[in-house]
Amino acid sequence: MQIAGKTVIITGGGRGIGREMAKEFAARGANIALFDLNQADLDAASAECRAAGVQARGYLANVTQEATVIAAMDAVVADFGGIDVLVNNAGIVKDGLLIKVKDGAVVGKMTLDQWQAVIDINLTGVFLCGREAAERMVRRGQGGVIINISSISRYGNAGQSNYVAAKAGIAAMAETWAKELARYGIRTGSIAPGYTRTDILAAMRPEILEKLTAQIPLRRLGDVSEIALAALFIVENDFFTGRCIDVDGGMRV
Ligand SMILES: NC(=O)c1ccc[n+]([C@@H]2O[C@H](COP(=O)([O-])OP(=O)(O)OC[C@H]3O[C@@H](n4cnc5c(N)ncnc54)[C@H](O)[C@@H]3O)[C@@H](O)[C@H]2O)c1
Repeated sequence: MQIAGKTVIITGGGRGIGREMAKEFAARGANIALFDLNQADLDAASAECRAAGVQARGYLANVTQEATVIAAMDAVVADFGGIDVLVNNAGIVKDGLLIKVKDGAVVGKMTLDQWQAVIDINLTGVFLCGREAAERMVRRGQGGVIINISSISRYGNAGQSNYVAAKAGIAAMAETWAKELARYGIRTGSIAPGYTRTDILAAMRPEILEKLTAQIPLRRLGDVSEIALAALFIVENDFFTGRCIDVDGGMRV
């Protein structure tokens, strides 16, 4: 698919990887629709996109709310005429061990709230946005591309039962949607970033971040632009569908 002139929705596009992807798509002539929770972030990110001479709008939309997602997708169709690309990027972490043991005694557990919050955004949100975008792509009959932002954690990572389940799930959903939606000209893919410099890592203690960086074969964190490049590749390459691209400096957790 040629990027210029297409309409690209990016969830969680107000900050981090999503915001950088928005700028990269805009720089190649795509019109941008951003879904996020914070109006100021949406305003700043869409202004950055418009600086490239394209149309860009922010939509206050929590990806976990079915009615909100439906309304936001309808608004994008009304504002831009259709949806060509969806990037399911919104995501959070709420890390914790399944059970925490100290001196032989269980002193903590991952709570159901911790589990559910991550599942709601990182898994259910992707399902809802993917389903609603696919419906509108099929109705318009011009195909499309759906990309899910997974993670290297999808292979299994200590302290992240909730996140791992969601990130493995959405990579598997991209494979599934590739099979279901190819007949309508819709391709899919997922991207599994390794540790990438954004706010999501700011919550990590510096000494832990340093330890992690030492385990990355390329000895540094990823840059948001390097993750965005994978999204551009998936959109532009018409023989790509379903698979996951790992962009992780060579690190497997
Ligand atoms: N940064 C990394 O190292 C890394 C590594 C692997 C995967 N990822 C994944 O990449 C994606 C982007 O991460 P990031 O590092 O840019 O994070 P970030 O925290 O910088 O940005 C995430 C954005 O998602 C938005 N968001 C959160 N919940 C939302 C909701 N319910 N509805 C709509 N928007 C919501 C936030 O407001 C924020 O703007 C996430 O899915 C994350 O899991 C990040």
